[in-house]
Amino acid sequence: MPSIAVIGAQWGDEGKGKITDYEAGRADLVVRYQGGSNAGHTIMVGEEVFALHILPSGIVREGVINVIGNGVIVDMISLGREIADVESRGRSVDGLRISDRANIILNWHRLLDGAEERLRGKKGVGTTGKGIGPCYSDKIARSGIRMGDLLDPELLEERLDTIMPMKLKTMEMLDVRLAQSREELLEELLSYGKMYGKYITDTSVLINDALDNGKNVLFEGAQGTMLDIDHGTYPFVTSSNCVAGAICTGAGVGPKRVDEVMGVLKAYTTRVGAGPFPTELNDATGELLQKVGGEFGVTTGRARRCGWLDLLIVEHAARLNGLTQFAVTKLDVMNDIKRIKVAVAYDIDGKRVEHFPGNFRMLERAVPIYEELDGWKGWKPEETMEIVRGGYDALPKEMREYLGYIEKRSKVPAKIISIGKGREETIRR
Ligand code: IMP
Repeated sequence: MPSIAVIGAQWGDEGKGKITDYEAGRADLVVRYQGGSNAGHTIMVGEEVFALHILPSGIVREGVINVIGNGVIVDMISLGREIADVESRGRSVDGLRISDRANIILNWHRLLDGAEERLRGKKGVGTTGKGIGPCYSDKIARSGIRMGDLLDPELLEERLDTIMPMKLKTMEMLDVRLAQSREELLEELLSYGKMYGKYITDTSVLINDALDNGKNVLFEGAQGTMLDIDHGTYPFVTSSNCVAGAICTGAGVGPKRVDEVMGVLKAYTTRVGAGPFPTELNDATGELLQKVGGEFGVTTGRARRCGWLDLLIVEHAARLNGLTQFAVTKLDVMNDIKRIKVAVAYDIDGKRVEHFPGNFRMLERAVPIYEELDGWKGWKPEETMEIVRGGYDALPKEMREYLGYIEKRSKVPAKIISIGKGREETIRR
């Protein structure tokens, strides 16, 4: 702290929810700045499990201000559901703030997401179906409705009357039908304004004021570097920038406002949805990682594809985000694997490639060049806290060597080591 970014270093699902929650213990503000409810951040507090999609992960901590920044696209249904869930468990969401500039996901975005995926057929992206691509497209095309519009009925009506005829035409072309009239939609949006108006504000001012006053701010990334619209495996990506640079535009802060950039790195690699994945394992080890790691999506329930760690991705993430540290998660999932492979380069058409290429056809032909390391022996669940108390040096020697290997290639220190699901099953180095 004072300000730290927590960013996914792979294809999302690296354990950002847990790490953000762990770091949120020191934060005064937790800020989401991109993505929408395509994200799924799981947080365990004691026996309680929170599956968050749109609310920032600091929401389960008392006294923390949780900000949904202007770069996020807000799914109002998801928002309502999550607020109700958190409140029903005796926690308050009074500290929630939503940017007046954040765009809103509307029903036609969900319908168009589905229609576009159907039209792509076998070449589909495998989206979460939450309307993310169409909503960001409308934002860029200046055809979006923003949170602040909900508080100004006249402006809202004007916006709706400009945008809706265009969207109806697009939907007609793509053969989908909105089951809502203009009046019904207007009424729905105005009701959101009444329900959530108290949370809507200029969050850029709020965040910058907090930083000026020496408060600790945590910027919570969603998805991951490899799903970034520019730097990921395009077109098999999400529709926002997920790298650290997005903090400036998505939260409304200058580039010098971020002090530390933490990359959350899963000890192996996973991906949901379609797209190239050079180190994917379609064998018993892949199945083992999926089973032991509980690799099923929080948002869609889909099984995640699993594979070995890929150092080209680690290096890509370190460079693009300017990472200053890693939080390495799920190391315990790899307990008792005798030999561990790590991709250090690719062979593409007979050439050794050291940097992650942008062309997905090339990636499909990439054959990973592996180095092998010794695995480590596991421990009983009841021994985890003993290891945590012993700190970094109490970790198995081979695990420390594995971490050292990652650090050497990326030149980024692994400062947080996660060896279990719980908040406390974490070592800070
Ligand atoms: P979209 O973001 O719903 O448009 O989906 C685009 C791609 O990003 C799909 O492959 C999704 O599975 C993937 N994706 C989106 N959000 C997440 C996430 O939070 N974790 C992992 N994958 C995600």
